[in-house]
Amino acid sequence: MYISSLRNFLYLPMSIIFVLFGFLLFFILMAIPKRKYAAIHASHQKADLKQRLDDIDNFISAGDRVLDVGCGNGQFGEAIAKRFNADVRGVDVVDYANADIPIEFYDGVHLPFEDNSFDVIVMAMMLHHVEHQEELLNEAIRCSRKCLVIYEDTYFSPWQKWAIIWNDFYSNRVIGIVKILKGLESKDVLKMPLPFTFRCVNGWHKLFGEKSLIPKNTIVRHLGIKPHSKVTFLLEK
Ligand SMILES: C[S@@+](CC[C@H](N)C(=O)[O-])C[C@H]1O[C@@H](n2cnc3c(N)ncnc32)[C@H](O)[C@@H]1O
Repeated sequence: MYISSLRNFLYLPMSIIFVLFGFLLFFILMAIPKRKYAAIHASHQKADLKQRLDDIDNFISAGDRVLDVGCGNGQFGEAIAKRFNADVRGVDVVDYANADIPIEFYDGVHLPFEDNSFDVIVMAMMLHHVEHQEELLNEAIRCSRKCLVIYEDTYFSPWQKWAIIWNDFYSNRVIGIVKILKGLESKDVLKMPLPFTFRCVNGWHKLFGEKSLIPKNTIVRHLGIKPHSKVTFLLEK
C-alpha cells in the first residue's frame, strides 16, 4: 500500500484546482524578477537533488562507473559524481547540457556502449519521455553490470494520472518557456519529447519482473497537497 485512501480521494479535487491554478501561475512566474526566479529554482533543484542522492546512498560506491541516461542538463549526474566520487557520464537525445561531466548524444534507442560497461545505470525522470520504453530498458540492462536506479512520476488513480500528464506538459513546455524568456535555459529544451508514457507502481513492477530485475527498494513520496507522487526504484540484475 503506497497511498492512503483519504489522500487518494482528496487528490481528485486537488487535481482540478491544480490544473486551473496552472493558468494563473504562468503570469505569476513571469512577474518574478529573473534573479529571484533563478534563486527559487536553484533552491528547489538543490532540495530535489539531495533527496535523490539520499535515496541511492548505499547503492553507489566510490569509483563506480555510472551512466545517467536522459541526463538533461547533466546536473544530477554531476551531483552523483561529487557525492560518491563516482565516474559518471551522461547520454541524451536533446542538447541543453550545462554540467561538468562528459555527455554524448545518441539515437534514443541504442546506447552506444559495450555490454556491462557501467556498474550502475541511472534513469531519472526520463522513461516517461520515451515512446519505446521497453527497448531502452533492455539496452540499460545490457549496459549495466549490477544495478539500475529509476526515478519516475507515478499515479494511483485515473485523476492523478491526468494531473501528472498536465504537470509534465506544464513543467516542460510552459515553465520551459518561462525559463527561456528569462535566459535561464536553452530553447532546445522545448525539443524534449513528451509521449506521457507514465505507469503506476504496479505497472513498473510488472515490467521489471518481465525483465528479471529484482526490486531491492521502492520509495514512494507524495508532494504534500500537490496531487503528485514520485517513486524511486532500486533494482538489481
Ligand atoms: C525531464 S528530463 C530529466 C532530465 C534529468 N534526468 C533530470 O532528472 O534532471 C527528461 C530527459 O530525457 C531525455 N530523453 C527523452 N527521450 C530519451 C531517450 N530515448 N534517450 C535518452 N534520453 C531521452 C530528454 O531529452 C530529457 O533531457
